[in-house]
Amino acid sequence: MITIIGAGSRLASALLPVLLEETDAQIHCVTSRKMAIQHPRVTVDVLDVTDKTALKESVMRAMPSTIINCAAITNVDACETDRQLAWAINVTLVENLARLARIVDAHLVHVSTDYVFDGTKGPYTEQAVPNPINYYGKSKLAGENVCTSGTSHSSIVRTCLIYGPPSDRPDFVQWVINACSSKKPIRVVNDQFAQPTYVEDIAEALLRITLRKRTGLYHVAGPDFMSRYDMAVRIAEFFKVDLSMIQPVTSAELQQPARRPHRSGLVSLKAETDLLLDMRDFTRGLSTVRHAMFSPDRMIP
Ligand SMILES: NC(=O)c1ccc[n+]([C@@H]2O[C@H](COP(=O)([O-])OP(=O)(O)OC[C@H]3O[C@@H](n4cnc5c(N)ncnc54)[C@H](OP(=O)(O)O)[C@@H]3O)[C@@H](O)[C@H]2O)c1
Repeated sequence: MITIIGAGSRLASALLPVLLEETDAQIHCVTSRKMAIQHPRVTVDVLDVTDKTALKESVMRAMPSTIINCAAITNVDACETDRQLAWAINVTLVENLARLARIVDAHLVHVSTDYVFDGTKGPYTEQAVPNPINYYGKSKLAGENVCTSGTSHSSIVRTCLIYGPPSDRPDFVQWVINACSSKKPIRVVNDQFAQPTYVEDIAEALLRITLRKRTGLYHVAGPDFMSRYDMAVRIAEFFKVDLSMIQPVTSAELQQPARRPHRSGLVSLKAETDLLLDMRDFTRGLSTVRHAMFSPDRMIP
């Protein structure tokens, strides 16, 4: 049995099909919202993950051999203002999961971020020393710490700027396509660098870590290191939408509520060699997005 916490997240929506296809395991989804999925190997528990008792009951019922945690407060600016909620999901939940994993003797696979770094000299290897500069990064680093101190049988997968097929919650790629195709001007920072990472590649990393029972820290990110502005231009060019809608700005001009690392990003060499991962580049990733957007399944109302 594999338990996915935060089963309604962007990452879990890519992970679930991969687990169903590549394993014979029963999948136990824990989520705060109703999921439409109906599959003989999938059970869904709808609950508030901050409710320690409900979470414990759900995990104890499932008795998983692996718990994969995709739940997080990922809105960087919201973390700055609602620190209590950010701590509850990004730290306390992980602490509770580590304890439960120890009780049921499960492998805990936790997902984290390149925002644990200050962005002065990325991309970073697993050996680099974290130094978060915003509350999201601080809470995610604290989450990593409670994960490793809570159970020895754990792995942490740090990733970076996730994008994937269109979903009800638009990611960076969809945001740019939507804005440019509806002629809505957008301001995009040209001094924040990171690597766009295709969601299914992270799902594949989580699968291999689960199957090989790997412990420790893994960096998993796409190979292209570029500014958000350059990413936006590449997206507009690729999807042939109006790139004149994209206006480059500096972080100083944009004045986002939370500070952002400037040169963030992750070196994925360990994941590529140890897990034999082939991370797709941005062009290949965008082709996969396009394929998903125009697949017959999606176009049937
Ligand atoms: N998105 C990125 O670009 C990015 C970059 C680097 C690292 N990461 C990391 O990757 C992981 C997955 O990210 P994602 O983008 O897939 O996440 P996401 O789509 O933002 O989903 C996070 C999930 O966390 C749960 N959650 C959020 N707020 C909650 C609340 N108040 N109460 C209860 N549950 C709540 C929800 O799960 P349910 O819907 O199942 O309730 C939600 O769907 C996270 O650990 C994130 O830090 C993401």
